[in-house]
Amino acid sequence: MTKKIIVIDEGTTSTRTMLFSADGTPLGSAQREFKQYYPAAGLVEHDAAEIWTATLACTRAMIDKAGGADKIAAIGITNQRETVVFWDRVTGEPLARAIVWQDRRTAADCAALKDAGHEAIVQEKSGLLLDPYFSGSKIGWALKNWPQLREAGDRLAVGTIESYLVFRLTGGAHVSDATNASRTQLMDINGAGGWDAELCELLGVPIALLPEIVGCTEPVGTTDPALFGGAIPICGMAGDQQAATIGQACLSPGQTKATFGTGAFILSASGTTRPHSANRLLATILVQEGDTRSYALEGSVFVAGSLIKWLRDGFGLLANAGESEGLARSVADNGGVYLVPALTGLGAPHWRPDALAAISGLSFASGKAHVARAALEAQAYQAHDLKSAFAADGVDWADLRIDGGMAANDWMAQDLADILNLTVERPEFVESTALGAAMLAATGAGLYPDLASAAKAMRGRATRFTPALGAQKRKTRLAGWQSALAKVLS
Ligand code: G3P
Repeated sequence: MTKKIIVIDEGTTSTRTMLFSADGTPLGSAQREFKQYYPAAGLVEHDAAEIWTATLACTRAMIDKAGGADKIAAIGITNQRETVVFWDRVTGEPLARAIVWQDRRTAADCAALKDAGHEAIVQEKSGLLLDPYFSGSKIGWALKNWPQLREAGDRLAVGTIESYLVFRLTGGAHVSDATNASRTQLMDINGAGGWDAELCELLGVPIALLPEIVGCTEPVGTTDPALFGGAIPICGMAGDQQAATIGQACLSPGQTKATFGTGAFILSASGTTRPHSANRLLATILVQEGDTRSYALEGSVFVAGSLIKWLRDGFGLLANAGESEGLARSVADNGGVYLVPALTGLGAPHWRPDALAAISGLSFASGKAHVARAALEAQAYQAHDLKSAFAADGVDWADLRIDGGMAANDWMAQDLADILNLTVERPEFVESTALGAAMLAATGAGLYPDLASAAKAMRGRATRFTPALGAQKRKTRLAGWQSALAKVLS
């Protein structure tokens, strides 16, 4: 019997391990939420030790389900990107809280670098803009402000989440795959570039602290036999948005996906030529197979599923996330209510870390259904703003493949098709991120000759949503959104 694939999908709010058969059929999953620390406005932290414990428990559950370590061909890892972990190379224990991608503590540092005229070179080399979203400024800040990191001397290791998990799983390998490395703002993504001395100096990060950059299907080691009762190869790694792009089989130039997880991230494959954006989008490494790198153009929206979670937990508007769909359907329209979800600033194409969220257009006629509907509508509006930016960069979407937990919402999927005026395709299995990591691991384990073959064989069936909204209604709604957005940006 062909061996199975394990995927560790470490997201922003939970860790999940999934078991797949070699043809991409999902066979099981174990998931654990972990704590979000918000020490002050704009700060978001995680406890990497808690993430590790959750990862271990979920992975053990799936290995047991498979019947033991010898039934597993390979482990793939995919993760929330940009979040940085600081740990002790000897004990493997974190030396400080992990600083999460949503954290805005370096907004002023980034603004100062921008004012000093550094953005052009940063964009040329890293493909990214000067914004607190990326890892580099966070690492520089931590080294300056957390004395225990300096005191750790040579014992200090730094890396993104996949890097930390590999270190713990293998008992000491310090590596990062090229897609995660490309989100640190410390890497020259062009050609065969690696950690870049100029970028590292600009952001105050010594290269010696950083992991070795490896390809996405490269074997990086085997699990410590003490963990799972056997040495399982780890040979598939990518940041979660790149993994979802692969899982949606968007490998040819122009093929585009949107993942609605904590945030919404839209990536369009660019092939082996690195894209250059003139419209505040990001150039990023999509995948590295052997020495061959391919790229993607990305629009990063910071708030998607986290808005629904906040409406439930912070605002008390919803009893559960699923309720949003019924509420949205219960009213004929948004009643003039718009919600601009700038709960952690605004990402692409605005890049305004200082922006604050707003609900506008309220009257005595407004009810919670209008607010819930406005929250779902905001997903389509934000995607629409990105569609315009991609088009201005010469990338016109022919259709859009959607995935992620929130994409299971039929109302939202149809609204995306209506507002984008495009066919929207949704796979039956919406966890494309995990599937993409399974494709990478299956390729790395030699079950398929290359990633393109794995993607062809492992992607399941999809449903299509076609636009059904009249042009005038679309225009009116987009105008309402633009005016709500303008107030937030002013
Ligand atoms: O860049 C941040 C992204 O990787 C977070 O992904 O899945 O937690 O929304 P997710």
